[in-house]
Amino acid sequence: MHAIGVDIGGTKIAAGVVDEDGRIIAKTRRETDPSDSESVDRGVIEACQELAAEHEIGAIGLAAPGFIASDQATVLFTPNLPWREHPLRDIVAKELGSDVTIVVENDANAAGWAEFRFGAARDVQDMLMLTIGTGLGGALVVGGNLVRGTWGVAAEVGHMRVVPGGHYCGCGHEGCWEQYASGSALVRDAQSALITEPARGTRLLEIAGGDADALTGPHVTQAAQEGDPLAVELLAELGRWIGEGAASVAALLDPAVVVIGGGVSAAGDLLLAPARRAFLDQLSARGHRPEATFALAAMGNDAGIVGAADLARR
Ligand code: BGC
Ligand code: NA
Ligand code: ZN
Repeated sequence: MHAIGVDIGGTKIAAGVVDEDGRIIAKTRRETDPSDSESVDRGVIEACQELAAEHEIGAIGLAAPGFIASDQATVLFTPNLPWREHPLRDIVAKELGSDVTIVVENDANAAGWAEFRFGAARDVQDMLMLTIGTGLGGALVVGGNLVRGTWGVAAEVGHMRVVPGGHYCGCGHEGCWEQYASGSALVRDAQSALITEPARGTRLLEIAGGDADALTGPHVTQAAQEGDPLAVELLAELGRWIGEGAASVAALLDPAVVVIGGGVSAAGDLLLAPARRAFLDQLSARGHRPEATFALAAMGNDAGIVGAADLARR
């Protein structure tokens, strides 16, 4: 059976038709205005309609960047979008008809599931996936099962407190891991370095077109790939936060693999090597236990689409 997977991001929606082997056979996308919740709904509906017009579809999975209720119909809360108790499934079902199963999933759970089934974690039974983007998303597979918790909102690892009294977070608290290990944190730190260390920031500022406010994560990655010392350092610092936090997760769940995905993972080893180093530095009982490996997401930006589709079909 073919299924549609929809990956809902802050400014864009990516959707695809996915076959049973996790291959995407058709794709489409929509730009949206993240401050306008209706524009996001409309983008999702249009993308699904476009794909369903050309393909026989058995199910639809919608991956959203927030806390999803256990009914898999309602987005309870999105820290970085304006959705609150948002009945996404019913809004989409109303337009697409009720003969197709529609489920709502957490975006990182969808990506993690795709990596577990078809990607970087296909050979293990226990894994942690971290998606590093606007927020920090998490997915946990334990004993071959996706961990959902009692109310559907397990694996929200981005909101574990790592710095008492630290940066404010969209979830309403302070010092969340996401405020230190995300693309947003990378940009914030890069912008502050442009102020405090202007001499080291010349290349970064140039890539951003001379406007610090226009700086993005991909700009930092580009500069780092050219060998710019400040950019390399910024990615290494991000990697450190990722690795140290992952060591805490390992204390709880003992995963075999930590998969790193999301936009910032395009930095590859510039991010992964410092993350692995920090993980090992912080691993409890190190030297007396096997060590989890770190891997980049094998499915790249398609993981959310593939995982959402595959979960909807189950
Ligand atoms: C949200 C998660 C989401 C992640 C990545 C976090 O802020 O709480 O639900 O998976 O961002 O989008
Ligand atoms: Na999750
Ligand atoms: Zn938070």
